[in-house]
Amino acid sequence: MNLLAIETSCDETSVAVIQNGRVLSNVVASQIQLHQEYGGVVPELATREHLRNWLPAARAALEKAGLEPKDLHAVAATQGPGLPNALLIGLKAAQALAFALEVPMIGVNHHEAHLYSPWISGQPSVAHFEAFQPNVSLIVSGGHTLLVHVRALLDHVVLGSTLDDAAGECFDKAAKLLGLPYPGGPVMDRLASEGNPKAYDFPRPLLKDPGDDFSFAGLKTSVRYFLQKNPSLADDPKALKDLCASVQAAIVDVLVVKTIRAAKRLNVKCVTASGGVTCNRSLRAELAKACERHGFSLRLAERELCTDNAAMIGILGELKLQRGQPALDPDEEIRPSWSLTEGVSR
Ligand code: KG4
Ligand code: ZN
Repeated sequence: MNLLAIETSCDETSVAVIQNGRVLSNVVASQIQLHQEYGGVVPELATREHLRNWLPAARAALEKAGLEPKDLHAVAATQGPGLPNALLIGLKAAQALAFALEVPMIGVNHHEAHLYSPWISGQPSVAHFEAFQPNVSLIVSGGHTLLVHVRALLDHVVLGSTLDDAAGECFDKAAKLLGLPYPGGPVMDRLASEGNPKAYDFPRPLLKDPGDDFSFAGLKTSVRYFLQKNPSLADDPKALKDLCASVQAAIVDVLVVKTIRAAKRLNVKCVTASGGVTCNRSLRAELAKACERHGFSLRLAERELCTDNAAMIGILGELKLQRGQPALDPDEEIRPSWSLTEGVSR
């Protein structure tokens, strides 16, 4: 089966071509620079960019895969959750393409797709679900922080999510308070690598709470109060690196401890992680250390598959079609608030 997938839920326009579990191409047109001057994603600008970029990205993805539109057997797109108008571009493009080619079109939940990105290896790659094990999966991005028990392929239960800010949002907001550019996560990661994570003690919200939910708004507020008391600290290059390392350590600590605790409780053998924050070097290293200490195997999404991409949408779309999920009606609409718990499991 040759399947073309489109992802336009936020600020990356991505088109991938999947062939029987192999990613033949995965083109990503990032809008980060466009939104940088506004300090965050501007939905209207994102929508216009998707409209401008999706067709060139689709042409490039097909060319890289060595295929033509007539070779496609199916189309997939992110149906939700995400920015409404941004989603609309990708979903309607996919529906039009499927209608013109007279092939089935499948709508995919963006977060459910993140659950499968750690099982895609290499670029271009084989999605080797043969290696799949029941796992506890952490999805950490700018918009979401989710802990999920994936019991089998296409069978999962959401354990917890953030009660307020997402982990990536906490990185970005703390970075802004420190005077760093958007998106702050990657910049903090770089500065933190030269700083002392024990220099300043920031709170680890809900760390001792036995539940699986997260909360990061208090941590961000504590950074604000700290900087109000110590206004010139962020201007000192060494202190700035120590501050980045200390804030990062607090976020990473919470993510790692809660993920491992859930994995132990549910008696799984495998832990996985994906989403933009999974690019963070400290999170990757600390998860690896903790998993080794507690005897879990760890599957982290490849860096280019951590952030939003159409490869994961296509891999899951193809899996769903193969397992008999019906194609989407041509008049089906986007689902901007589609939660992972709502009707996506089996
Ligand atoms: O998954 P993603 O590309 O988009 C969504 O939010 O859906 O994630 C973007 C988030 C941003 O908050 C960004 O700051 C964060 O991921 N991020 C990082 C790193 N790379 C990206 N956070 C910490 N360290 C990084 N290296
Ligand atoms: Zn995402």
